[in-house]
Amino acid sequence: MKIFLTGASGLVGAAFARAAERRGHRVVGIVGRFTGDLPGVAERRTFDLADETALTSAVLDAFPEAIVNCAAISEPAAVDADPARAQALNVALPATLARLAHHVSARCVHISSEQVFDGALIAPYRTDSATGPINLYGRQKLESEQAVHAAAPEFAATVRAPLLMGNSPGGRRSMHERLFNDWGAGKAVQLYADEFRQPCTGENLAEVLLELCERRDLCGVFHWAGSELVSRFALGLAVREHFKLPPERAPIISVSRAERPEIARGRQACLALDLAPLMGKLKTRPQTVAAQLAELQVPPAARSWYFSA
Ligand SMILES: NC(=O)c1ccc[n+]([C@@H]2O[C@H](COP(=O)([O-])OP(=O)(O)OC[C@H]3O[C@@H](n4cnc5c(N)ncnc54)[C@H](OP(=O)(O)O)[C@@H]3O)[C@@H](O)[C@H]2O)c1
Repeated sequence: MKIFLTGASGLVGAAFARAAERRGHRVVGIVGRFTGDLPGVAERRTFDLADETALTSAVLDAFPEAIVNCAAISEPAAVDADPARAQALNVALPATLARLAHHVSARCVHISSEQVFDGALIAPYRTDSATGPINLYGRQKLESEQAVHAAAPEFAATVRAPLLMGNSPGGRRSMHERLFNDWGAGKAVQLYADEFRQPCTGENLAEVLLELCERRDLCGVFHWAGSELVSRFALGLAVREHFKLPPERAPIISVSRAERPEIARGRQACLALDLAPLMGKLKTRPQTVAAQLAELQVPPAARSWYFSA
């Protein structure tokens, strides 16, 4: 199948391109600023996805059987720093892609976020649980879901994803990459001991997106995540232990939400996701934290620091 992939240079998109190539699909990958190699991308196009004319002509030129949207401004702080640009990438882009998918009768697979929820529940959120985003990123992601499914209800599947682990092309995006880059720069990392997430790797999420490309019968909004709920602090400790880093080289400071009420207001305490009904319908399985750790590599920028000990 020919797949039009946005965000081909991102954490999830790059993993998706590799997985799609392994399964014999042809990926037309859209890239923004990244200039390195992207295995699995058969045809590479570089342009600003906020340019709707360029986007429309690229989709019509490719005439794909599936459109997979892995592009976004995916950090809440970056969204707050430039809300208009984030709106263009996080809402207008998926809406346009869904309209184009409808136009060319292509499958449309989009990624939303666990951050459409408020994080006040301890029980896992179901796909039909009430949403209640508490930051602009979450509000934009929710708006994107509504726009995508209004434009292409019979073609679209959206996956709400959790905190992502894994190896990104630039080596700076995922949780362990950020930890390594801070430790390599001599910084102690502060992690919340009372914020709970259900992480999975970008690679595992990419397998789910690929299965959804192949399963056009599965339309609607779905959840995907790992099989374990952990605190950010516990996850940081697990990363440090996995790479056998001593605490003095890789310091982690436990912090609590109560210590920082101003910041905690825009961060969810607990984001547990119920994976039904997707889990029963796919071959891909949710991962344990141990399985995720086993996939991680030392990011390129931190290699000389890591191996210098
Ligand atoms: N990372 C997480 O923990 C997480 C958690 C839940 C949900 N998600 C969602 O999962 C999806 C994938 O996230 P990710 O972590 O893989 O994102 P990412 O690593 O930040 O990658 C973002 C991608 O979007 C591209 N992009 C951004 N602006 C662009 C523009 N104006 N023109 C062209 N390309 C542009 C980037 O291209 P260049 O780098 O080449 O510029 C990159 O390929 C997003 O929808 C995100 O919101 C992420």
